[in-house]
Amino acid sequence: MAATLTNPLRIGLRQERVIPPQCLIIFGASGDLTHRKLIPALFELFLQRRLPSEFAVLGCARRPWSDEVFRQTMAQRLQPIIAPNPQAWEFFSQGLFYEPVDLQQPGHLERLGQRLEQVDRLRATRGARTFYLSVSPAFYGSGARALAGAGLLADPQRSRLVIEKPFGTDYASAQQLNRVVKSSAQENQIFRIDHYLCKETVQNIMVLRFANSIFEPLWNRNHISSVQITAAETVGVEQRASYYEQSGALKDMVQNHLTQMLALTTMEPPGRFEPEPIRNEKAKVLQAARLANPEQPWTCCVRGQYGSGGTAERPLVSYRNEPGVNPNSTTETYVAVKLLIDNWRWQGVPFYLRTGKHMAKRLSEVALTFRDAPVHLFDAATGGVSSNNQFVIRIQPDEGATFRFEVKAPGSGMRSRPIAMDFSYLDSFGEPSDEGYVRLLADAMLGDPTLFTRSDEVEAAWRLYTPILEGLKQSPEKFPVHSYEAGTWGPAESDELLSRDGLLWRRP
Ligand code: BG6
Repeated sequence: MAATLTNPLRIGLRQERVIPPQCLIIFGASGDLTHRKLIPALFELFLQRRLPSEFAVLGCARRPWSDEVFRQTMAQRLQPIIAPNPQAWEFFSQGLFYEPVDLQQPGHLERLGQRLEQVDRLRATRGARTFYLSVSPAFYGSGARALAGAGLLADPQRSRLVIEKPFGTDYASAQQLNRVVKSSAQENQIFRIDHYLCKETVQNIMVLRFANSIFEPLWNRNHISSVQITAAETVGVEQRASYYEQSGALKDMVQNHLTQMLALTTMEPPGRFEPEPIRNEKAKVLQAARLANPEQPWTCCVRGQYGSGGTAERPLVSYRNEPGVNPNSTTETYVAVKLLIDNWRWQGVPFYLRTGKHMAKRLSEVALTFRDAPVHLFDAATGGVSSNNQFVIRIQPDEGATFRFEVKAPGSGMRSRPIAMDFSYLDSFGEPSDEGYVRLLADAMLGDPTLFTRSDEVEAAWRLYTPILEGLKQSPEKFPVHSYEAGTWGPAESDELLSRDGLLWRRP
């Protein structure tokens, strides 16, 4: 591209694939996601010189904006990002267009088709199109149908459909939505988003496991005694009460993000590093996973809700006092579940998943605890107890991995002490990894579905939690929501889920 970029070329040592010419059509372009994530990610790709010059974004929403209003609105909302790169923005924003569209109005789709042809001619995008549904989930099915009806998804080589989360609200609705979108486009045209899969360290789970020979022999029930998967957030419900009240932590985080981390941690090695072999293995392991006690799901699920908390300087209001939340709400803002996987590799190993809002620390990680040493040679001498080896994959913040093992403590005695051997992305590579949406948009535009969830994976993930979701409907009294102080590690009842098995949650 001819623009003079104020930023240096930032791709450095990275191996990046070049995105082919195309138009990205964003439905819901006036919504939050467009200016918070999508346009910043596209601008980042532009700065990394990964967008071809034959590229356009067509924003679509109901508001009667013009191209110019769309460009100016984005420029205002992205000011902090644009400020260091004004010339680059100038050049990039020439590729932004806008068309008022209501997906429910057939006449609008006809006009959209004509506008796309015009954009194609103007920007030489060659009829290649990625349609991004960033609209209310209630419109995913009808949106896909409308695009197919207008013939806009007819060419499987040149048209793709990206669908934001949540994909369904339970097993039945996910199946139904899959039926609709699969009747509108072929599976290889459909890109279901789970932004956790685009985090560098989540992808690193596969590289650690399958590019090294030291981990895989140990990665099974013979050597691993338990696994904890955590996604703790310090933010509360923010301005999303109307969505969150209907969703809660289990649907918002566990069914998708945490279950995807579980799948990558436990899947078998794929036959080839290609989308379908990888997605086959993920789907297979999710089909073998189950709640520890699906007949009595309340015994392996703990729900919590944040009460007030925080500090004098930063007081935090309780969930029930958040704007838009029902003062008697029983929606969970914290949830912990215990799962088992019925296959040869994992039989009997408990997997504990937890997530919560307003917790003590922002932290996502996968922690594998190894079996106890068969004999404790050194404990008798010192009266001490050695700790189990642990391997922790840190997803965020501070991305990396830590291996914990015992060493001799200095001195004349033979006392052992646990130490941590640490790998940090930032220290090793000197740059933070891309924001998830950069990778996600690039892959969708490249037509690479590896990091997107296939229909059978999504359905298997919903099926896993169906006993809880059904139980909540039929006997909610069996799934009480326990209050926890905002800014802590969740309700005390959640500790019991592990203490029954003689374990403790990690509190890094
Ligand atoms: C989203 C959830 O999918 O993930 C949010 O809807 C949550 O509630 C967010 O805050 C967490 O993502 P990240 O990337 O900040 O860990």
